[in-house]
Amino acid sequence: MTESIIHKNNRYEPEYGNWIPVKLVGILLSITLVFFVVFGLTMLYSESTLLKVLTTLLFLAAVFIFGYMIYVRRAFDFRHGGLMGKIHQYVLDHLAWDGKGRLLDVGCGSGALTIRCAKAFAEAECTGIDYWGAMWDYNQKMCERNAEIEGVSDRCSFRKDDANRLEFRDETFDAVVSNFVYHEVHNNPDKEALIRETLRVLKKGGAFALHDLFSNKQIYKDFDTIINHLKADGISELHFVPNTEKTLPMPQLTQMPGMLTGLGMIYGKK
Ligand SMILES: C[S@@+](CC[C@H](N)C(=O)[O-])C[C@H]1O[C@@H](n2cnc3c(N)ncnc32)[C@H](O)[C@@H]1O
Repeated sequence: MTESIIHKNNRYEPEYGNWIPVKLVGILLSITLVFFVVFGLTMLYSESTLLKVLTTLLFLAAVFIFGYMIYVRRAFDFRHGGLMGKIHQYVLDHLAWDGKGRLLDVGCGSGALTIRCAKAFAEAECTGIDYWGAMWDYNQKMCERNAEIEGVSDRCSFRKDDANRLEFRDETFDAVVSNFVYHEVHNNPDKEALIRETLRVLKKGGAFALHDLFSNKQIYKDFDTIINHLKADGISELHFVPNTEKTLPMPQLTQMPGMLTGLGMIYGKK
């Protein structure tokens, strides 16, 4: 992945990847090509009108989905639409922290939000953890290179860890952030447990800003109940912003079902 860091204007630029991984684009392209071949063969050799209509529809659907993914990927990209950076900034803007001490980014991906935090808080020690699953284009080396290029490697560290069970003691950090991670933890449908695990490693009085699909009822069911449980646990200040896609500067087409809808932010102090 480090090879993909581009050399432009005589300086290296960070490579923050994309929430639509290259692997997914490759799979969709392959499916589209297969449907194209099937469509072509049907048109050439079949006499069945039904089969011709069916393969035409399948091919068009594949082209549409592939085209849509390319569009969204471009909208997300740091060098094009920049939506990933805007959403990271939105998370950071909700973190009421003085920047003194240690910050954790749960599920840091390419390290983009961790590094943004390190740049925003000049004295902070920032740690990013991720399990860097095979589906994603991210890895630890990439995060470290990005921190180096951005000039914050002395205050940023990255390590492999699991959001289900973080390898940190209770109350280790002064601030915690996380963006679009819990819904991706497919081996744990108990999303409340994931939020609790993140907050476990936050010091009492520490600041948090967590952003995920909290308004998506299929994933989070009754999020108000989760908020009530967290309050009952003694979280001193807890704010919930539902459907943040309505506030964020997001192109309408990125808000389609299955893409960025039902977003939500919780922030405050433990
Ligand atoms: C949509 S990406 C978001 C990455 C980053 N937070 C960002 O905003 O750019 C989801 C991330 O969650 C990570 N992830 C999924 N399950 C995880 C787990 N159990 N522990 C840690 N990270 C996990 C993935 O590896 C991936 O980097």
